[in-house]
Amino acid sequence: MNKIAILAGDGIGPEIVAEAQKVLHCLQQAFGLSAEFEHAPVGGAGFDAAGHPLPGPTLALARQADAILLGSVGGPQWEQLERDLRPEQGLLGLRAELELFSNLRPAILYPQLADASTLKPGIVSGLDIMIVRELTGGIYFGKPRGIRTRDDGQREGFNTLVYSESEIERIGRSAFEIARKRSRRLCSVDKANVLECSELWREVISALGRDEYPDVELSHMYVDNAAMQLVREPKQFDVMVTTNMFGDILSDAAAMLTGSIGMLPSASLDSRGKGMYEPIHGSAPDIAGQGIANPLATILSVAMMLRYSLDLPELATRVEQAVGKVLDSGLRTPDIASPGMQTVGSAAMGDAVISALQAT
Ligand code: IPM
Ligand code: MG
Repeated sequence: MNKIAILAGDGIGPEIVAEAQKVLHCLQQAFGLSAEFEHAPVGGAGFDAAGHPLPGPTLALARQADAILLGSVGGPQWEQLERDLRPEQGLLGLRAELELFSNLRPAILYPQLADASTLKPGIVSGLDIMIVRELTGGIYFGKPRGIRTRDDGQREGFNTLVYSESEIERIGRSAFEIARKRSRRLCSVDKANVLECSELWREVISALGRDEYPDVELSHMYVDNAAMQLVREPKQFDVMVTTNMFGDILSDAAAMLTGSIGMLPSASLDSRGKGMYEPIHGSAPDIAGQGIANPLATILSVAMMLRYSLDLPELATRVEQAVGKVLDSGLRTPDIASPGMQTVGSAAMGDAVISALQAT
């Protein structure tokens, strides 16, 4: 029996996770998925319930679980809290505590949504990129960090960008392995012309490629150029590997190529394949509670969970195909709405995915 922790979080989190859970229940009833679910609060909801964005029992549940489904965290009502208590710390704490260092962010353009992209269809049609983002190191976690007052009375903020060789090597290995399963092309993104940390990054990734993955074609790109190339000619990329912060930024850009950030799932994995699965979009407080959020990124995150943690690739494919069928049928949530298509809310979208699943 697989134990799945469900951490719905804040904003639209509970609405989209509810739809993903309907899909999980359908997989249990119709396709023999063996799973039990347990819910716990995280983020702002964790703070409201227990005074901390990552309450002890939530972390304990996440540790025990075979996989974690997370909605989203954050919202204006918690922004004034001190940093350690803000919702984002719930997410960062889970990543760090569970050592989920390898973050897979696929950016796939569903052909049905080519018109939803702000780029010309020719530039994005057929797009299928995998961004592998380092998730537990770099400037997000480096110390020292803080805001201090200098002798002259001015305050200054400071953070530390640091990567050890072993941290670079393990994310590099993740990315090379994925590249091997795809087109055997990997682009490593850094800022080695300015940052020593990137210089080491490039050296370690190059050595790994040379020594262990000579069959994978490795290239390097500076992050500013990579941002430009992503919007100029995105299909030149297959697998990209990069640091925590560069990956944060580039994955939002890549997401938008596909038309809506509401479509993209992610997996955050440890070295044994245990994982946390979440949509890459945020908690969207502006539309929370209206029942109009796109649940597809969360449903596609369930598909990634089936593939990467539960070892059920056929079920993963079924879910992905069901999403494709629903898009074929013309249903769209407002974020991907287009003329001539039927705009529906979160629940109707979730129901449609279930009907499509049951019809397979
Ligand atoms: C993401 C988010 C998070 C990050 C925030 C919410 C802390 O933007 O998962 O990309 O910066 O990693
Ligand atoms: Mg981000």
